[in-house]
Amino acid sequence: MLLLKAIFNTIAVMITVEKNKSLRHFNTFGIDVNARYLFHLHRPDELQALTEHHEVGDMVSVEDKLLVVGQGSNMLFTSDFDGLVIINEISGIRIISEDESGVVVEAGAGVIWNDLVEFAVANNFAGIENLFLIPGTVGATPVQNIGAYGVEAAETIEKVRLYHTVTREWLELNNQECRFGYRDSIFKNELKNRAVICSVTFRLSKRIKPRLEYGNIREELEKRRISDPSLRQISDVIADIRRSKLPDPAVLGNAGSFFKNPVVSIDELGRLRGSFSGISYFEQGGRYKIPAGWLIEQAGWKGHRSVNTGCYEKQALILVNYGGAAGSEVLDLALRIRESVQEKFGIRLESEVNIVPGQAFY
Ligand code: EPU
Repeated sequence: MLLLKAIFNTIAVMITVEKNKSLRHFNTFGIDVNARYLFHLHRPDELQALTEHHEVGDMVSVEDKLLVVGQGSNMLFTSDFDGLVIINEISGIRIISEDESGVVVEAGAGVIWNDLVEFAVANNFAGIENLFLIPGTVGATPVQNIGAYGVEAAETIEKVRLYHTVTREWLELNNQECRFGYRDSIFKNELKNRAVICSVTFRLSKRIKPRLEYGNIREELEKRRISDPSLRQISDVIADIRRSKLPDPAVLGNAGSFFKNPVVSIDELGRLRGSFSGISYFEQGGRYKIPAGWLIEQAGWKGHRSVNTGCYEKQALILVNYGGAAGSEVLDLALRIRESVQEKFGIRLESEVNIVPGQAFY
């Protein structure tokens, strides 16, 4: 772990902290709750001023009083947030180094993730094209270790630069130190609510190695008579597959997969296959991932609607806000789904979205 020298300069930085602001436009579920304090972070050096702010300075280092949000694309608010919400809007994409094999690119945590993927695809830098159209910001990618269509962000992340809100140090974590797992990292564990990620550095390749094994990507390319796809052709196919299954949060509030796909042992898989012959699964390092969407569909929830919320009709793993739903309604639906999957299959689903406040789900 690299401890960076304090880079705050001595010139006073003026900041504005807003009070009692709606978070409706800062979460893709579109839940209308208020933050007691709201701050738009544009530059890392504003963090110093924030820690010295007369009203919110103390909150920065208190874990349940601080929440960092990008686009709020993986978040469910179940009540007002009685603390400080930082909307991370640190911008900028820059190439740090380049050689014949690839480039190292640093992006501000507030950059929209898909803008970075677009940049990579447009310049023929390979590695993140399968992650096209995932909602959210660059800063959220290491937290979640976002993944789709056979690729995870962890494969290209080289380092993460952050401000530790408790020790008040600047740190740089390398890939190993981020302790990436399936939709998991140090930022969801030891560093949960203790880190403001300022930038993420990626290593992208100039050699295209298409990753086409997931689902129907190859089939879709074949239909288009493409045998040696460019990055643009891959991202176009991914975009079409996503649009056919996943609701656009700008149209229908949602936070992508609500639950993680459960991972079970070989014994557990044997038990499940004995009782449910149609079950599908994917081997992963000696353990088996079962599609939660399949479990939820089999439990009868796909397309279910209760007042303002529902289980999306084309992908059962996605819960949606049809408009005006309270976070507690979505949570209630999630709990009912979890209970019925537990009853039918003996599998306990874990939430993939960050439920705020956190105690609500367990
Ligand atoms: N399935 C069903 N019914 C459903 C949905 C899925 O039976 O309603 C089964 C199908 O058999 C399908 C399998 O589940 O073959 C897998 O479905 P899909 O390819 O749609 O992927 P997923 O496992 O449901 C994961 C990620 C998604 C990512 C897709 C594609 C998680 C929790 N979710 O979903 O990520 O886009 O794979 O790679 O791992 C997200 O994290 O928010 C997200 C959308």
